[in-house]
Amino acid sequence: MLTAYDYPTARLAAEAGVDVLLVGDSLGMVVLGYETTVPVTLEEMLHHTKAARRGAPELHLVADLPFMADATPERALAAAERLVKEGGADSVKLEGAKLDVVRALAGAGVPVLGHVGLTPQTASSLGGYKVQGNSPAAAKKMLEDALALENAGVWGVVLEMVPMPLAGLVTEQLGVPTIGIGAGAATDGQVLVFHDLIGVFERFKPRFVRRYLEGGPLIREAIAAYAADVRSGAFPQSEHGYEMDSSALEGLYGKEN
Ligand code: KIV
Repeated sequence: MLTAYDYPTARLAAEAGVDVLLVGDSLGMVVLGYETTVPVTLEEMLHHTKAARRGAPELHLVADLPFMADATPERALAAAERLVKEGGADSVKLEGAKLDVVRALAGAGVPVLGHVGLTPQTASSLGGYKVQGNSPAAAKKMLEDALALENAGVWGVVLEMVPMPLAGLVTEQLGVPTIGIGAGAATDGQVLVFHDLIGVFERFKPRFVRRYLEGGPLIREAIAAYAADVRSGAFPQSEHGYEMDSSALEGLYGKEN
């Protein structure tokens, strides 16, 4: 699984063989420049879900319910209806053990992906962007939450910033797939944020990220080369322009008369 928030990324990911795309509310941080995911609106999620859907019509597309859109079953149903009907999402993802909300969505026929461990929408109440489940009580609660989400009807559970042995245990105990991010190799699948993978989100780099491209320096160099060429006159050249029909040019200068 990989995040995608627009047409070209979704298309490239589909062609590269990714199985599932996530329009994560991480878009708020890596695309829209917010400090956290909290300000992301349903309209922003919709806008990007539609674009990603156009890029990869053939892939399963998950869209995040933004902060507070899942505060009640009624709100979650209304938001999911828009993400699925207008946005083209196949599933919605929500953070935490909101069991009544999951039951309502699953009961209405909306496939739901759960998300436990570090849940960014409520990171401030979890002590910041920190590994979760590192005490016996917290580990037990995470396992119970994941099992309860499965019972409530999720088709899978994202485990974010979860110690590797605990992620392995949760994966073993659940009948539905786990998808890890910062949870080690024992989960059934993995998810990464696209802008982390290609190295263009440079504000911070979590330990669990592997950059498969140092895209930031490469893109800066390309833009700097373009700007230098424009300033020096090296770009554009005649091959980048269009000739004009000679009679049209002569007509313009009045040679016909
Ligand atoms: O918003 C997001 O991209 C996510 C992933 C990190 C799982 O929730």
